[in-house]
Amino acid sequence: SVRGDYHRTGFHFQPLKNWMNDPNGPMYYNGVYHLFYQYNPNGTVWGNIVWAHSVSKDLINWNGIEHAIYPSKPFDKFGCWSGSATIIPGKGPVILYTGVIDENNTQVQCYAEPEDPNDPLLRRWVKPDKLNPAVVDKDVNHTEFRDPTTAWWGKDGHWRMLVGSVRKRRGIAYLYRSKDFKTWVRAKHPIHSKGGTGMWECPDFYPVSVIGNVVGNPVKHVLKNSLDDTKFDYYTVGTYLEDKDRYVPDNTSVDGWGGLRYDYGNFYASKSFFDPSKNRRILWGWANECDKPIDNFRKGWAGIQAIPRTVWLDFTGRQLVQWPVEELNSLRGKEVNIDNQRLEKGDYSEVKGITAAQADVEVTFSFSSLDKAEAYDPKWVKAQDLCAQKGSKLQGGVGPFGLLTLASQNLEEFTPVFFRVFKSPNKHIVLLCSDARSSSLKSDLYKPQFAGFVDVDLAADKKISLRSLIDHSVVESFGAGGKTNILSRVYPELAVMNQAHLFVFNNGTEPIVVQNLKAWSMISADIK
Ligand code: FRU
Repeated sequence: SVRGDYHRTGFHFQPLKNWMNDPNGPMYYNGVYHLFYQYNPNGTVWGNIVWAHSVSKDLINWNGIEHAIYPSKPFDKFGCWSGSATIIPGKGPVILYTGVIDENNTQVQCYAEPEDPNDPLLRRWVKPDKLNPAVVDKDVNHTEFRDPTTAWWGKDGHWRMLVGSVRKRRGIAYLYRSKDFKTWVRAKHPIHSKGGTGMWECPDFYPVSVIGNVVGNPVKHVLKNSLDDTKFDYYTVGTYLEDKDRYVPDNTSVDGWGGLRYDYGNFYASKSFFDPSKNRRILWGWANECDKPIDNFRKGWAGIQAIPRTVWLDFTGRQLVQWPVEELNSLRGKEVNIDNQRLEKGDYSEVKGITAAQADVEVTFSFSSLDKAEAYDPKWVKAQDLCAQKGSKLQGGVGPFGLLTLASQNLEEFTPVFFRVFKSPNKHIVLLCSDARSSSLKSDLYKPQFAGFVDVDLAADKKISLRSLIDHSVVESFGAGGKTNILSRVYPELAVMNQAHLFVFNNGTEPIVVQNLKAWSMISADIK
């Protein structure tokens, strides 16, 4: 790696150099996982976009092969933007992606297929002229019309797929149907839309099974959109009315910026796929840099992918749960343990013996009472504002307690990931924060405090878990078993390599017990 490039990740996916954004067309086919991604072969800023291609047997170690899709035709001459793979039964995988046809950013949807479907790595992709462009639509906003989803097969024997768009300020997921995967016709109604939400990038639509589902019970569906306005991924859980080809969110989910997020931090343009080999759905998401273009130029790279996450419906049916794919555990090296360590108000204690700049930490915190929880003010609707106001340093009642990650020895730098519990008339409100404000002494960085509420019943449990994946310039955290997740990008100057430390802390009046903590040094993934 470049000298002084101590922010490069050890086990998060990233190319050797240059700019990367959205994950594209993830799939599992013939024993191989494929990840394509938006890539600039010529620099560390967005531009000249192609589909770079990596393959893996385990989602963790990757081999980069030749670019799969790059501008070569009139219909994608100005860019090969995001899209998805669909595996057609009896035929194999095909790709739908967005082609940019002119300097005005006019967008059409294009079709690509493997040159040789028997090549185990699907190295070369072709774009048959007679099938392209696959979708040109005069009646949509042609500069905001992109990111086709994986297609699905309806009971009527026709394919369906979605394309993200906007009209006025109404975010739209247009529905297209095809009987042969060649000619696509837009349905009269979009599958879903919502006023005031702006452009819907990278829609994703998929079934999730209801736990305890019995045969004949319908599954739920998830619709995710990446809101161009806020650069966050929002989803709803709802019902897909197949006969009408309409999606209706449940009343526990709302569209737009007040809705549920996969991740309350830096995580965008995500895409999921079904992995038949382990009967699970896997989610990829892009985490942008928070330093400056000049820093990226110096580093020689920009953009990482979050750890692929298994995603499923929580037993409440109200939200999704995510967890790093189990294959990540193969990188766990040296392990340290803490059991039943009590933390009084103001205590912090180092977790020694691991490489704290490249680690995996799983911890369960418990406490005996919620009586001391701070009163919740109902005007605190935005978790991020509440975290800004309270932070980790302001003493609380139950919490703040959690981890100080990527900390320098004397805490000049640290990224705290912590819970804070509040009391409202009928329930307790739990906040999870990942606060980059104290992450680096370097000043010209974007150092946001990210936060989300956690939908748990602490009065019953009196404990809560946290897992953090720490990887040099990323802290990716999963609260309460993956109900509320936050990815932060941070660029410490002191807390780097073997100068980085990890602590547990409590800054509330209620004593907290580290019931169990396991931390592992993480081996680097083999990413070529
Ligand atoms: C999302 C996005 C997509 C587009 C791609 C271009 O980050 O803007 O809407 O297809 O990136 O690289």
